[in-house]
Amino acid sequence: MLRAHAIWKSFDGIDVLKGVDLHVQERECVCILGPSGSGKSTMLRCLNRLEEPDSGEIYLDGQKVSGPSVDLNGLRQQLGMVFQSFNLYPHLNALGNVTLALRKVKKLARPEADEIAIKALDTVGLRHKADAMPATLSGGQQQRVAIARAIALNPKVMLFDEPTSALDPELVGSVISTMRDLRTEGMTMVVVTHELRFAREAADKVVFMADGVEVAKGPPPEIFDAPPHPRLAEFLQQVS
Ligand SMILES: Nc1ncnc2c1ncn2[C@@H]1O[C@H](COP(=O)(O)OP(=O)(O)O)[C@@H](O)[C@H]1O
Ligand SMILES: [Mg+2]
Repeated sequence: MLRAHAIWKSFDGIDVLKGVDLHVQERECVCILGPSGSGKSTMLRCLNRLEEPDSGEIYLDGQKVSGPSVDLNGLRQQLGMVFQSFNLYPHLNALGNVTLALRKVKKLARPEADEIAIKALDTVGLRHKADAMPATLSGGQQQRVAIARAIALNPKVMLFDEPTSALDPELVGSVISTMRDLRTEGMTMVVVTHELRFAREAADKVVFMADGVEVAKGPPPEIFDAPPHPRLAEFLQQVS
């Protein structure tokens, strides 16, 4: 479903991604782990071209989406992204936040956009909060609205960049549980996270990055129970 090959990216002459590959099959959940600064966010942002890779190729569902003459708005609808900071519009209620792109980008009429948005809010368990303003929602609820906003566009793949890192510990569970539900429904997902339990239980494949390269990759039992690389073993000790 998503394939990135030899992605290189530098900032100010410093190589942040040094030829990273990523393969994600349809309905797979791939979790990316790694220390801060290892290039995880940059990799996700290169996938949907929020950052322009210096070189490398990206294919989504068989279509090349790297290089010139790619419709970036179209690409970002197909690769939904959820960030650490939820970035909801404070002056719009939950429904308004979810319908915005449906109306402005997909050009849907309000009744149709509302219907899709309500379904998406239902999926994240927040149908009853459709009228709520972001400031009245908990961080976990705001993040679930942000997830609803992305899934309402019916993406082929969802990219999550540390979606629970900005949340108070007691709010992490609701977001993780929403992500589990999406996974169960067969959403194809790439998740950068420090939630090792989620990675162990939900991932088909775990990728460990450090210093802009993939250091280790494998199914969760291989990665967690018999770390194939000392840097990974050290990282797991620090995080858990
Ligand atoms: N827009 C940018 N300009 C300059 N340096 C950047 C930019 N984005 C990321 N970096 C640098 O790239 C490296 C990798 O960052 P990032 O991808 O955010 O790592 P991670 O998500 O693994 O913590 C860091 O050293 C960071 O400072
Ligand atoms: Mg990051």
